[in-house]
Amino acid sequence: MKALDLVSSPAAAYWKQLLSDRVNPKWREDIDNFETDIVLKKRGKIEDKLFAETRLRMGAYGQRYDNGHRHDGNESRTIPFPTDLNKGPETKWDAPGMERIKLPWGGMTAQQLEVIAELAEEYSDSILHVTTRQDIQLHYIHIENCPSMFRRLAAVGITTREACGNSVRNVTACPIAGVCRDEAFDITGYANAVFAYLLGHPDVQDFGRKFKIALSGCKHNPCGLTNIHDLGLIAAVRRQPDGSIKRGFEFYVGGGLGAVTYDAKLFTDFVAEDEVLALTQATCRVFARLGEKKKRHRARIKFLVADMGIDKFREAVLEERAKLPADPRWTDFLATLPKFDEKAARPAGKGIPKTNDAAFDFWCLTNVYPQKQDGFATVTVTLPMGDITSNQARGLASIARKYIQDTMRTTVEQNIVLRFVSESDLYDLYKDLATIDLHQAGAASIVDITACPGTDTCKLGVSSSRGLAAELRTRLATKFVQMDEAVRNLRIKVSGCFNSCGQQHIADIGFFGISRNVGGYIVPHFQMVLGGQFANNGGTYGLAVGGIASKAIPAAIDKLLDLYLTRKNKGETFRAWVERTGKAVIMQSLGDVTAVPAYDADKSFYTDWGSVREYNVKDKGIGECAGEVVSLTDFGLKAADREVFEAQLKFDTGDWQTGAALAYKAMVYAAQGLVKMYNIDVPDDPEKVMAEWKERFYDTQKFFDPFAGPRFAQFYIHAHEQRGAQLDKEKASRLLQEALLFIEAAHSCNLRLSMGIEKGKDGIAADIKAAGAKPAKA
Ligand code: HEM
Ligand code: SF4
Repeated sequence: MKALDLVSSPAAAYWKQLLSDRVNPKWREDIDNFETDIVLKKRGKIEDKLFAETRLRMGAYGQRYDNGHRHDGNESRTIPFPTDLNKGPETKWDAPGMERIKLPWGGMTAQQLEVIAELAEEYSDSILHVTTRQDIQLHYIHIENCPSMFRRLAAVGITTREACGNSVRNVTACPIAGVCRDEAFDITGYANAVFAYLLGHPDVQDFGRKFKIALSGCKHNPCGLTNIHDLGLIAAVRRQPDGSIKRGFEFYVGGGLGAVTYDAKLFTDFVAEDEVLALTQATCRVFARLGEKKKRHRARIKFLVADMGIDKFREAVLEERAKLPADPRWTDFLATLPKFDEKAARPAGKGIPKTNDAAFDFWCLTNVYPQKQDGFATVTVTLPMGDITSNQARGLASIARKYIQDTMRTTVEQNIVLRFVSESDLYDLYKDLATIDLHQAGAASIVDITACPGTDTCKLGVSSSRGLAAELRTRLATKFVQMDEAVRNLRIKVSGCFNSCGQQHIADIGFFGISRNVGGYIVPHFQMVLGGQFANNGGTYGLAVGGIASKAIPAAIDKLLDLYLTRKNKGETFRAWVERTGKAVIMQSLGDVTAVPAYDADKSFYTDWGSVREYNVKDKGIGECAGEVVSLTDFGLKAADREVFEAQLKFDTGDWQTGAALAYKAMVYAAQGLVKMYNIDVPDDPEKVMAEWKERFYDTQKFFDPFAGPRFAQFYIHAHEQRGAQLDKEKASRLLQEALLFIEAAHSCNLRLSMGIEKGKDGIAADIKAAGAKPAKA
């Protein structure tokens, strides 16, 4: 059957006919095939699972409630949709979804921005959302509009292929590459070569999970964030024996955020520019061949590198590299590099214009970066929560045409930069931005908060990351101008769950969503993560210090900032202060503002930010004695929280052996607490706790996470097996993180069971159904 015979709708046929000639033939084939798949799926000819992976590889994601259920605070309700079809796994065909639009290295022309603005208006909710990996997402789209969207994007040089799914995701790079004063050289053309070479490449089609690549022009600035990537390339130069300079890269593998963080490992400190694609390809082949395929939670390259050790991994890759048949594309791209040299649209300026406009001066301070090209600046257009409306986007495209030559880029902090702005034009540009309300100051500051989609649209969201971020931004903005610089320049990043899409581990102050049982009610919380480092390519990860109710966080932040300012030594960074003070003292000092009032005293704590529903309230009456109902399980979990906190403190003092022992002990407390639901006499002996917990929670799958399955349970089993062993710092740190996650999972398990979600004969699937949620793909 020819793809051309299968057109999904009259509108699709119109765009297909109009644009076919303007689309790169390979991309055209991808889109035609996808359209065919849509038609076949509707005719019942494609298996659900297969269609799900197919659409994901074209960037079409699921979205919250797309299983046709929504919890109204008391019970799960059915959302009626016109058809019974689904777009697999178990997402309703007509339910709104999300489309991720891949922008390699964040590059975007005015025309491309206009097209995305139109698509957002016609097919979505008129909002373009810039993501933490330089993509733009549209939400609330219908799957059948995808082929038209894809054709309209492809006609202006954008593909969505491999924006999601088990493939090479968007290749990211410093948004100021080429204009940066610190870079070794402009990495833009190289980032584009990596993207173009790997897109649809047969060697990257058989991964167990996603693969993220980032390039950075230097080591110490944060822009590329190579440390948190599966593969990271940092520009480096070498002097050759003949005196010439050779370009190349430091080559890193196996970094990553997510539930358990990994620092990238140095594979080699120099791979020459003409070898970098070959080595990247060999790395991908080794990942495809040896990487985990069945257990999703172990299927990232970070686990493979950690399991093999970097030396063995390197050996395997170099062996693979030696076997690769030569490909001219490995070096062909070098001749195209000059194409990426940007030009200015206007003559160089002579310094920032002098005005009497204090707001402009302040904006220059936070949003204007003087480029290495004299007389030009890069301007950051701050987008609260990464959002820009279609109208604003069209306005911004016109402004870009007026002042620069299409030299715009998205950033991982969810903003857009305009490069090569003549300094003389800065004030006019500022005033033009003000007409579309895009002139807000505060780029890369405490008000420029990063947030993942969270419970707004993400199926895995636990708490409202965007709600919290918006609230914090509003409150902090009122004090921003007067703030001490030490506080003003801190970064806040928020994720709706432990998956870390909002990159909270590399913020000074980070949060990820969790929930807690308070007096029989489920209350939205966030774990606070302090002291992460954005600089040095996301060089150091923060550590979780404790859970705080969502509604208590603004007050907690005020107090935290106040503590820092009043107690820091002269010139002491936030991270250094956190380390010196210790988390125990910090959490203790926050104590009174983090208390959760009883339900009857203040119900607002029981509703999440930006929500009108009570947060998944357990349908339970108040006990007759009017006291709080605290079970032995709650006590056990509390003990586990406390112990793991102690473990962190030990770790911070450098005593990671004791830290690891305490972390394991904390896991035992949590497991014991759970067992007490059934057997209050369970002894303290770790062997007995494990045996009882295994029988009651593991074998029955009661402990299994609805989305992550047995993953967290296995952390405990693993810790139990290796208890008492000598661990190096890295292994001890991992054990600590795993203990935190296991304890978090124990809290969730307790919540599920207290809500009456028990195992049915269908196992975990029945639980998920009862909870009204569905597993999501990353
Ligand atoms: C197992 C599930 C998931 C894991 C482990 C995961 C992990 C991550 C991590 C670590 C990042 C950002 C850091 C980076 O690599 O640069 C990220 C990015 C992101 N994630 Fe997730 N994620 C998961 C599922 C989801 C889901 C279900 C959604 C919501 C639809 C989502 C939305 C995002 C977004 C919007 C970004 C920025 C993305 C981009 O442009 O690629 N993630 N994810
Ligand atoms: S961190 Fe969690 S809630 Fe946020 S987008 Fe990722 S998976 Fe969804």
